[in-house]
Amino acid sequence: MGEFAAARVTPGMRLGLGTGRTASAFLDALEPRVRQGLVVSAVCTSQATERRARSMGITILPDTGEGLDLDVDGADEVTRELDLIKGAGGAMVREKIVAERSRRFWVVADATKRVGRLGERAALPIEVLTFDWAGTQRRIEGICQLRTRLRGGQEPFISDNGNLVLDADLAGCSEPWRELAQRLAEVPGVVGHGLFLGLATAAVISDGLRVEVLGDLEDSR
Ligand code: A5P
Repeated sequence: MGEFAAARVTPGMRLGLGTGRTASAFLDALEPRVRQGLVVSAVCTSQATERRARSMGITILPDTGEGLDLDVDGADEVTRELDLIKGAGGAMVREKIVAERSRRFWVVADATKRVGRLGERAALPIEVLTFDWAGTQRRIEGICQLRTRLRGGQEPFISDNGNLVLDADLAGCSEPWRELAQRLAEVPGVVGHGLFLGLATAAVISDGLRVEVLGDLEDSR
């Protein structure tokens, strides 16, 4: 699916570049085209992706908040309605900012990421401030039946933003996810979370043999 998306990048595009193995496979497929003269610029969702993009010769755009043409990123779960869980790599806060800035947001994922219901196979990552993180965790656990654990345990994972990540089990919670998203956002100390609802404009899913597109690649907002 990396090749599938990379083949559709056109000269001059302003890209959003995701984080993780699948987003990296997209860059692998894009690299030869860039080396052969394709000029594109990008906003990167993590320090790792930015290092990679710079090494390929992609121009990194300044933080002006201007719109992007296309964001390509992976996901931990994808539903038929194109709702997602993201953030196993801990980059979901920047990923959501970049996804919202993009006219098109294509999710690239292997078929194992397809789910009927969010939370079936992945935990929901929630980024929290280090300040009173245990208090924030208690507040979060007061929302439906969310159970959370600190990512990294004794050696906590620290995000590119300098924050901690709690991984939440959605099993005890029920839809609508928009309500959960809103309630999480209202907890002081929560910086962001990996529920991406109504953001993806298409998904490119591969089972290794064939590529399936959910939604319409031409859709934009
Ligand atoms: C990074 O924080 C994540 O949102 C990734 O996009 C997501 O975890 C998918 O990663 P993989 O492509 O490595 O499975």
